[in-house]
Amino acid sequence: MNKFIRAFTFGIFALVPMLTLAASSGVHLDKAGNDLSDKESLKRGFESYINYCLGCHQLQYQRYNRTFEDLGISEADGIANYMYTGDKVGDHITNTMPAKDAAKWFGNTPPDLTLMARLKPGPDYIYTYLRSFYVDPERPFGVNNTVLKNAGMPHVLQGLQGVRTMDENGKLSEATGGSMTVEEYDAFARDLANFLEYTGEPSKLKREAMGYWVIGFLFIFLIFAYLLKVEYWKDVH
Ligand code: HEC
Repeated sequence: MNKFIRAFTFGIFALVPMLTLAASSGVHLDKAGNDLSDKESLKRGFESYINYCLGCHQLQYQRYNRTFEDLGISEADGIANYMYTGDKVGDHITNTMPAKDAAKWFGNTPPDLTLMARLKPGPDYIYTYLRSFYVDPERPFGVNNTVLKNAGMPHVLQGLQGVRTMDENGKLSEATGGSMTVEEYDAFARDLANFLEYTGEPSKLKREAMGYWVIGFLFIFLIFAYLLKVEYWKDVH
């Protein structure tokens, strides 16, 4: 019995690193270099999301008004420029695509993206994914993706990025024929990844800002604690 328990415990401990390895897929991911304190980037990402992604992907755990507040968008501006679905400002950011039909059209249902930056190997995954579509005539929409083999998603940003092709060594060409330069498109994808990192954990914005205050407080407290120590010990020799 004892032996069994030991073998079982060993098995569990041996499994943990294996699971972590499995979680980080072997694919190389480019660094997005996100900056959650960059509100302008978050706003651009939000706007692009509404324009290019919401049609298929909901953000069903994220509300419009919370997003406006966090990103510093006034309610009037928000309603005029970020809301097209006839929802109310207190509503979640959803669409009306029926999941069953979507699965029929794309092979897979477009997942909710609110928490995607936390589920997949992080925001760098989203950044890399959006830049890694390439021409593949075998696929229903004519494109494949290097980080998600046989992705069901059409390359909805092709007009911006242009097309990339894969050579026989599996290397992707530079994109051609899009309305954006490579740098512009990378920045566009970075803003989207930044925005989705924010929706994955909205409190991060406030928590990080609060961190500076806490450190500041501790520092000032240290000065008083030191003065107090000097005061207490001054008569002791
Ligand atoms: C026309 C519908 C459609 C649009 C528009 C669309 N997607 Fe998708 N997306 C899909 C589908 C379908 C999948 C599921 C792919 C699969 O699992 O094969 C998907 C999957 C994803 C995934 C998950 C990939 C994974 O590894 O599971 C991410 C991230 C994503 N999309 C991001 C975006 C972003 C960002 C936008 C906006 C720029 C966007 N998508 C626009 C249909 C769409």
